[in-house]
Amino acid sequence: MKRLEGVSLALGVGGGIAAYKAVELMRRLIDEGATVTPILTANSLNFVGLTTFRALGSNEPITSLFNGDSPIPHTKIGQGVDAVVVAPATADILSKFAVGSCDDALSTILVSTDAKVILAAAMHKEMWAHPAVVENVATIRRRGFVVIDPEHGILAGGDVGFGRLAATEVVIDSVVAEVGSKDLAGKSVVVTIGGTREAIDPVRFIGNRSSGKQGFAIVSALLDRGASVVAVSTVELQVESPRLEVVRVESALEMDGATRRSCEDADALIMCAAVADYRVETPWNSKFKRGSGNVPELKLVENPDILAGVVSESKKFSRKFITVGFAAETDDVEKNGRLKIAKKGCDILVVNDVSKEETRFGSADNEVVILFADGSSRFVPLAPKRAIAIEVVNALAERL
Ligand SMILES: Cc1cc2nc3c(=O)[nH]c(=O)nc-3n(C[C@H](O)[C@H](O)[C@H](O)COP(=O)(O)O)c2cc1C
Repeated sequence: MKRLEGVSLALGVGGGIAAYKAVELMRRLIDEGATVTPILTANSLNFVGLTTFRALGSNEPITSLFNGDSPIPHTKIGQGVDAVVVAPATADILSKFAVGSCDDALSTILVSTDAKVILAAAMHKEMWAHPAVVENVATIRRRGFVVIDPEHGILAGGDVGFGRLAATEVVIDSVVAEVGSKDLAGKSVVVTIGGTREAIDPVRFIGNRSSGKQGFAIVSALLDRGASVVAVSTVELQVESPRLEVVRVESALEMDGATRRSCEDADALIMCAAVADYRVETPWNSKFKRGSGNVPELKLVENPDILAGVVSESKKFSRKFITVGFAAETDDVEKNGRLKIAKKGCDILVVNDVSKEETRFGSADNEVVILFADGSSRFVPLAPKRAIAIEVVNALAERL
């Protein structure tokens, strides 16, 4: 499913060096299903060509209030869109919007709309740090509009600092969060995140290399689509939402209990955590000291299979309940995945090959095969974990 299907956007482009990135942003917003009307300031046309926006935009670009077909373009555009996105939003555009100035098409449309406004700031580091800009951004945010901070990196002229336009994906995710499809509204999904820690003594544990990054990305993608999420996590989450409940756990046994309880009221489970297969049968009550004469021997016992347990309990639910597992494989990825989906009895299994350098635990990217219980499958080539998360959530939404 396209995340911006049926969404109408105005894309304002300011007179900054990052204006060329607006072309790619516009194309990607259209790929996501949006209809995009470009609004170019006079200064932006020093940086980018009108022809490109005419060729790639969904509608004829607007460059002035007075030269188009519409007698009152500012109100017509403002009333007809779900959001006005400005990228890059220059210091000048932020300043005008903060005071409500309307001296060209973009600034007038920004003040003539009830739609969501999302401004992706981009400017030189000195401009971004200037008290006038800082205050303007605070004013705009206080009024409930979204300002996407610029990123740190190389700026025009070779300087380095905060000022670069946020990555295209970040801007798109923000648009999706504001006006994207809410097809999972009313659905509750439990997501397990991170690697479990199995105590050896009060200070030592057996752990694994799971970073929780894929889990965060899945939580964000679910929240963007309107779902309520219970995250049963061994790591701290950098996501906040009134629709997110975080249950912190450490060991596999704690995760098992919290997950089963959370699933009682949920519509789906995404088992993204890396759960230890074994735990120490009897952890030491106090720190095991070196030199005490004997080397400790750890007796391990098997941990419960959380996914298989929930799958079996969910058979008793009177409602539809979808289970999604993750499997990290190092060889015969698809074949082992097929065996696993049959053994666990889950509806969907996301299998990733952790033997590759680019997709090992903790990496930013992933490449997966999504297997379905009916025998079908979907390959998702190497992509950032947020893109993988969107595919996993798409697969779940289809089944829900
Ligand atoms: C080469 C060049 C690059 C510029 N880059 C930026 C920029 O990235 N951000 C910004 O706020 N202003 C930038 N400026 C200054 C703006 O162009 C100037 O403030 C202009 O009035 C903004 O126009 P606008 O309201 O159409 O955005 C740049 C100017 C030049 C000459």
